[in-house]
Amino acid sequence: MDKKKMDMKKRKIKIIGTGMCVPDKVLTNADLEKIVDTSDEWITTRTGIKERRIASENQASSNLAIGAAKMAIKNAGITIDDIDLIMVASVTPDTPFPSTACWVQKGLRAGPIPSFDIAGACSGFLYGMILSESLILSGTSKRILLIAVESLTKITNWKDRNTCVLFGDGSGAAVLEESRDESGMLSYYWKADGNLGDLLFMPGGGSRVPIRKENVDEDLQYLHMKGNEVFKYAVKKMGLSAVEAVKRAGLETKDIDYLFPHQANIRIVKATGKRLNLPEEKVFSNIHKYGNMSAATIPIGVHEMFAEGKLKKGDNIVMVAFGSGFTWAGITYRW
Ligand SMILES: CC(C)(COP(=O)(O)OP(=O)(O)OC[C@H]1O[C@@H](n2cnc3c(N)ncnc32)[C@H](O)[C@@H]1OP(=O)(O)O)[C@@H](O)C(=O)NCCC(=O)NCCS
Repeated sequence: MDKKKMDMKKRKIKIIGTGMCVPDKVLTNADLEKIVDTSDEWITTRTGIKERRIASENQASSNLAIGAAKMAIKNAGITIDDIDLIMVASVTPDTPFPSTACWVQKGLRAGPIPSFDIAGACSGFLYGMILSESLILSGTSKRILLIAVESLTKITNWKDRNTCVLFGDGSGAAVLEESRDESGMLSYYWKADGNLGDLLFMPGGGSRVPIRKENVDEDLQYLHMKGNEVFKYAVKKMGLSAVEAVKRAGLETKDIDYLFPHQANIRIVKATGKRLNLPEEKVFSNIHKYGNMSAATIPIGVHEMFAEGKLKKGDNIVMVAFGSGFTWAGITYRW
């Protein structure tokens, strides 16, 4: 059986609508120069970031998530009543409990449908898609609202130049259902290694280091990262995930139209593109305007490319991520 027929036979899930929402407030590298000992030149050459969006004091993750969700639902041509499950990927929830998904459910005035969060860090959106495939193809859910949202600037230590220049806030959303045509998720690859958890983590705010004054005095409520070591793993695992996802779809690099790597650092983005031997124009990047928005970078990227008319029916795309955990994942998807 030829490959095209095989793809048509395999049951898959597809995205029927996408949306995004970022805060209005922009923080440029020039603004950061006034806060910490850094320079536009250092940030641009080391990371590719020029500016990022910052949530305001009264803007929580659910506010951004609701904005992205409403757009995705509208673009799918449905209403909230057509959704039967809400899943939110985030490491910056509104509250430890209830879940951000439940706050979103309230905000969207959804019925009493199952709503829960997943914590896959920067791989969260891809983890959510893979989980959605099981839920939909098993018949548990018909149509899932998957939202990735981060308000990372709320857990950023603005005195630490090693981390504060890297992150931004935003949300991307997708509505997923079973595909009735050739488009949809063709393959996936997902992994984790908890042995490396303390290279990128937030030590405080959980049961290990509860919120207490002495812990706050030690800045444990902020994101901590050993950037250099994370960088090496990210390059290795994102490259591996991309290669595996393409292979598992039965495709070759020449069949791939666009690569959507998680936007952590332009050097990691480029290295992942090289690993697939893709020319630069096939490797998506928007890190210059948003920085690293963790789980939200991939759905926002896909939404932007589609909204700009650059994603065409039949295009084969690869989405690949790496994040705290460590977690990493790759998905091959036919648009
Ligand atoms: C964080 C990162 C940009 C740092 O780049 P790097 O080339 O590894 O830089 P280093 O950490 O080796 O630091 C080099 C020097 O720059 C300095 N530096 C760090 N941040 C700086 C900043 N914002 N401005 C100016 N100098 C800075 C360091 O203090 C260090 O100085 P030293 O040599 O005098 O000690 C890079 O490691 C990275 O992107 N890591 C992965 C991040 C990531 O992917 N995180 C999320 C995964 S989802």
